[in-house]
Amino acid sequence: MGRDNKLLKRIPEDLKRFSELTKGNLIIVGRKTLESFKDKKPLPGRVNVVLTRDLSYTCDGAVVVHDAEALAKAIEGFEEAVYVCGGESVYKQLLPHCCKALITEIDEAFEADAHLVPLDQTPGWVKAGEGQWQESRAGVRFRYVDYERQN
Ligand SMILES: NC(=O)c1ccc[n+]([C@@H]2O[C@H](COP(=O)([O-])OP(=O)(O)OC[C@H]3O[C@@H](n4cnc5c(N)ncnc54)[C@H](OP(=O)(O)O)[C@@H]3O)[C@@H](O)[C@H]2O)c1
Repeated sequence: MGRDNKLLKRIPEDLKRFSELTKGNLIIVGRKTLESFKDKKPLPGRVNVVLTRDLSYTCDGAVVVHDAEALAKAIEGFEEAVYVCGGESVYKQLLPHCCKALITEIDEAFEADAHLVPLDQTPGWVKAGEGQWQESRAGVRFRYVDYERQN
């Protein structure tokens, strides 16, 4: 999923899809992922909720929360979709609370220091759809694979 707090490969088509899906909605990110965004700023046009244990942390334009309870409060009553957007530690903690996982597979191997649990081997998750391989302008093949939680 990542290395040195960066994506393994920037795929413009996938970034566009990510933007279209999340705009107008709410994203939850860990502090490190937020700081991997351009200029370490929240993504525009959506509510950014950032998790950090640092009680003095501030981030203009983002909702900062320090634990799961505060996170639940921050998203309570939000009428639009809530997207958990990483990184590794946040996916691990919040996957059990998600009903869908929208995965982008890249047909290439990378050295990584941040990983996503393999959903094919995670009880309760089933593959719900698999797109065609596509050729990215970035010079790699990629495809979208969706999973759903069964229980
Ligand atoms: N390919 C993808 O789809 C994708 C998506 C997102 C990120 N990534 C990659 O993932 C990597 C980052 O993942 P990561 O696991 O290192 O970092 P992360 O999950 O983005 O952020 C970790 C930080 O979040 C805070 N945090 C996590 N759980 C918390 C909790 N329960 N309560 C309060 N704060 C909490 C802590 O911040 P403090 O240290 O401030 O306390 C922790 O150090 C990067 O390489 C990034 O590019 C990939």
